[in-house]
Amino acid sequence: MNLRIEQDRLQSEIEALARISDATPPAVTRVVFTPTDQEARRWLRQLCLEARMAVRQDAIGNMFARWAGSDESAPPIATGSHIDAIPNAGKYDGVVGVLGALEAIRALQRSGWRPLCSIELILFTSEEPTRFGIGCLGSRMLSGTLTPGAARQLTDDSGETLEQVRKKAGAQGELESVRLPSGHYGAFVELHIEQGPLLERTGVPLGIVESIAAPASYKMLVEGAGGHAGAVLMPGRKDALCAAAEIILAVEQAALSSGSSDTVATVGICDVFPGAVNSIPSRVRLSLDVRDTDLQRRDKVLHAIQAKAQHLVAERGVSIPFQIINADAPASCSSLVTGSLIRSCKTHGLPFQTMVSRAYHDALFMSRVAPAGMLFIPCRNGYSHRPDEYASPEDIARGVLVLAETLAELSAQPVTAIVS
Ligand code: GLV
Ligand code: MN
Ligand code: MN
Repeated sequence: MNLRIEQDRLQSEIEALARISDATPPAVTRVVFTPTDQEARRWLRQLCLEARMAVRQDAIGNMFARWAGSDESAPPIATGSHIDAIPNAGKYDGVVGVLGALEAIRALQRSGWRPLCSIELILFTSEEPTRFGIGCLGSRMLSGTLTPGAARQLTDDSGETLEQVRKKAGAQGELESVRLPSGHYGAFVELHIEQGPLLERTGVPLGIVESIAAPASYKMLVEGAGGHAGAVLMPGRKDALCAAAEIILAVEQAALSSGSSDTVATVGICDVFPGAVNSIPSRVRLSLDVRDTDLQRRDKVLHAIQAKAQHLVAERGVSIPFQIINADAPASCSSLVTGSLIRSCKTHGLPFQTMVSRAYHDALFMSRVAPAGMLFIPCRNGYSHRPDEYASPEDIARGVLVLAETLAELSAQPVTAIVS
């Protein structure tokens, strides 16, 4: 097969998508279901139509672009990622897996090759948790990990419900229709920047992901007592920020002392109320993000943080209600997909290494309903979720080439899904 990746065209599409943003370049901000996100979706839809793909959208706004295979009754092979971007992000997170997949499909089309199983490019809704507090909304619902009932409870910071927001954005139909039956897809493969430094450090151009770490996130509210910063004396204060500070340091300590460098824990949001220089903080909203490759170790960290919170309730007289947003199990990638990725690297003489994904991805949830795998390419300094995120056109093109080869192999004959 003569696969030719149009690197310059792909690069200019990445640049064009980066311009559909709510941030000042080079930063990119594209939050789900905002007018900007909708403009980006329309732009992408047009590109898929130009590639002669049939496009549909489900009730949560996942977009599916299908290149029909010669046997439309065979389970399709899926690929894709997300184009929503957290505030002040870069151009490549998710985007490489969407535009790269489109270019992989176009390269297969140009080569004159025709799949037996259809190939579907999926644009997943809200991989980032920015608006509704929970990541991978689209793939969680496709896999049945997030129920329609739980999804209907979700609201954004302005109080608008997911139901209102998605319908306003044109995602019609009942959420009950989103879940995929097991066996719907023959396989799923996601191309992504590594978001870490390993590939760059080792000089290996491709990473084949074998497992995806287990993410968990909590919302915590620390409630104390406010008052005048001058008039209320120190003994007996219930300063919510001081209690929150102890929690934040306990989170760091719990991860540092887990016994493994695979444990990571972050407090990324700390909202102080009322936020006045001469007022004792009465309320602090914290977000907690804990991940590990090992589920038990991850949960041990969560328990240590809860124990610290209980201790602070007794010691400082504050209250600390918390809400578990998600506590997901890790995923193992399917040997069906990793095997195909390895063969594709070898076909093109490209070095690769196997690795763990420490970030979560839509593949984490797609692995619940289909044999799934991921291909990583390097990104400069391992930077991601920041405006200077960068992957070179050459590295992207290599990833797209291997993705195209893998899609060709997986779609050449029906794959019997072995996921129960
Ligand atoms: C995805 O963006 C993650 O936070 O891992
Ligand atoms: Mn991200
Ligand atoms: Mn991503």
